[in-house]
Amino acid sequence: MSEKPVEYSGPERVFSGVQPSGSLHLGNYLGALKKFVDLQDAHDCVYCIVDLHAVTVWQDPKELAKQTRHIAAAFLAAGVDPDKAIIYPQAQVRAHSELAWYFNCVARIGWLNRMTQFKDKAGKNSEKMSVGLYDYPVLQAADILAFKATHVPVGEDQKQHLELSRDIAAKFNNDFDAPGFFPLPEPLIKGPGARVMSLKDGSSKMSKSDPSDLSRINLTDEADKIAKKIRKAKTDPEPIPAEMDGLEGRPEVANLVGIYAALSGQSDQDVLNTYAGEGFGVFKPALADLCVEKIAPITESMNRYLADPAEIDRILAKGAEAAAAIADPIVSDVRDIMGFWKA
Ligand code: TYM
Repeated sequence: MSEKPVEYSGPERVFSGVQPSGSLHLGNYLGALKKFVDLQDAHDCVYCIVDLHAVTVWQDPKELAKQTRHIAAAFLAAGVDPDKAIIYPQAQVRAHSELAWYFNCVARIGWLNRMTQFKDKAGKNSEKMSVGLYDYPVLQAADILAFKATHVPVGEDQKQHLELSRDIAAKFNNDFDAPGFFPLPEPLIKGPGARVMSLKDGSSKMSKSDPSDLSRINLTDEADKIAKKIRKAKTDPEPIPAEMDGLEGRPEVANLVGIYAALSGQSDQDVLNTYAGEGFGVFKPALADLCVEKIAPITESMNRYLADPAEIDRILAKGAEAAAAIADPIVSDVRDIMGFWKA
């Protein structure tokens, strides 16, 4: 007799994380930060600066804390409000590492072997990578589930990691006869900006690790740099099409149209309706102006926050306390469920 699994019936919670390695780009903004802001009014939101993930590749100890403040400044400048959402650095909340260990004993090696992001990052050098880089998706599952988060706003590149989190949650609930203890977290991916591509190659995503700075728009880029990068973005000699199927086989053009749509809050088709038949001599300057209009205020605000690191530290310390107050009791319940000795 197979019983239907009992569904999670606890409160909804939003959780997401961003690594403090390298500066943030337009893909991070549209795929994650913008969604963080959109969700904070109506939901209980926890946004983590995932420094434990960052150290899966070597990070300069003199830079790590600075990088963490930099991401905090980007969250705040993008509009995340610390009175509405919790913002904190992952390493300050021990529940992440502890739950990751328990999940290491739940997740299967075969599941991790299928993770494409590890294969992409490690390339031919997988033997030389840290164990942490391989195990990274298990820590990500622990991040989410230490808060019993039900919804996770991320870009499309995180889809497979989210599926793994669901598998780990389901296997834990099943293995320890704790039906409905963990929710099966839902990724919030859909919408414009879920997959922003490189400005130089429409087949690879915009990424901090791309060696060419011209491939991405950083949240720290000045207006003239943004305009230059858009001017130099790869396109083709054809005009902007009138219909979506005219974007097929033109990934770079589709990407620029998608960026315009995401920044202006329109659909791709709306953008085509406005620019159909125009060449890039018209479209690129319009896109550059829009990018500057949306990014420049964030850059300025980030600089204001970074000029006051004590204020950032105060926000992060308060956030860490609030985060631990949620996660610690959940991980304590996990210990009980697994049957560890306690006094
Ligand atoms: P990270 O730090 O690489 O990226 C942060 C967020 O930005 C999104 N993103 C993009 N979205 C659209 N287009 C792009 N080109 C693009 N590049 C990045 C990512 O999808 C992500 O949402 N593993 C995660 C961090 C993490 C996490 C978590 C996320 C750790 N624990 C728990 C959610 C829940 C990462 O490396 O993101």
